[in-house]
Amino acid sequence: MRIGMLTSGGDCQALNAAMRGVVKGLNNSVDDLKIFGFERGYKGLIYGNYRLLTASDFSGILTRGGTILGSSRQPFKQMRTPDENGLDKVEAMKQTYFDLNLECLVILGGNGTEKTANLLREEGLNVIHLPKTIDNDIYGTDVTFGFQSAINIATDAIDCIHTTAASHNRVFIVEVMGHKVGWLTLYAGIAGGADIILIPEIPYDIDKVVEAIEKRSKAGKGFTILAVAEGAISKQDSKLSKKEYKKEVAKRKYPSVSYEIADLIEKKLGTEVRVTVPGHTQRGGSPSPYDRVLCTRLGAAAAQAIVDKDFGNMIAMVDGETKRVPLKDVAGKLKTVDPDATIIKEAKTIGISFGD
Ligand code: F6P
Repeated sequence: MRIGMLTSGGDCQALNAAMRGVVKGLNNSVDDLKIFGFERGYKGLIYGNYRLLTASDFSGILTRGGTILGSSRQPFKQMRTPDENGLDKVEAMKQTYFDLNLECLVILGGNGTEKTANLLREEGLNVIHLPKTIDNDIYGTDVTFGFQSAINIATDAIDCIHTTAASHNRVFIVEVMGHKVGWLTLYAGIAGGADIILIPEIPYDIDKVVEAIEKRSKAGKGFTILAVAEGAISKQDSKLSKKEYKKEVAKRKYPSVSYEIADLIEKKLGTEVRVTVPGHTQRGGSPSPYDRVLCTRLGAAAAQAIVDKDFGNMIAMVDGETKRVPLKDVAGKLKTVDPDATIIKEAKTIGISFGD
């Protein structure tokens, strides 16, 4: 059996663990397994850069962060645009696939990657997608791999801020990744005991944020910790069109939303505010035990789907079970936090402010 494999988009913990799961699963049921590992995501597939790998290459990588295949961003929007030498990228990917006589492509990645996987499916290739991203925003799966590992790191960051915040009587902002959604901030914020959590799905009112800080100081709490999603947006800005908002952001002098919020709080309250951005550390290090188990299960389920020749699916985790979800039903959809979800209500019940 000849399988192609690639990891595309921003990396995360457990990519290697997931590939290991697939290969171990296949190796147990297939006699002659050849794995073509494409280097740096779709780039490798477009330009025919690959390594021929065997099962042993996937041994001992359960705990290793990053991806042994490398990754890169190849925006879906530009897939139909020829490269600088006029190469048709989609045709080039198909050519590589057929030249290598592959049975299928195992594609590990987030939303953009999934859209391209679906495009390749429409073009007649056999694909299996595994849902990777620390953002947890892939529609059709309860959880993506990388998410739980990133929660641990972002929570650690908030934990560390706690002690210094208490010593200095300051307001601290920890900016959490997550692209356009607030899953990571919500979970790390609750786990780290943040007092205020700002996520894109619940646009904030800066006066409400300030009120929440004042309420804490009146109650004798010397410090306040905000977990702010990198995509957090004010109520005002949320009313703008996408285009208008982009223009607005381009005009700003702040490196990110947290610095703007910090500035506003300082001006309104005269309090010192500090911003911490753990940034890409959230994607680094070895996968959490949860992610290792998740990826072993998703990998094994992917191997079974390949053996069954049931292609064109994302291998998802739904209600604690692995599930084959047709790519045509999920590609291009985003899973966002529901502002009315029970978790939000419970957080509010214990006094966490969402600035709304
Ligand atoms: O999608 C994962 C993610 O880490 C997002 O949370 C973040 O917005 C983005 O990637 C950062 O991308 P890059 O690594 O290209 O800077």
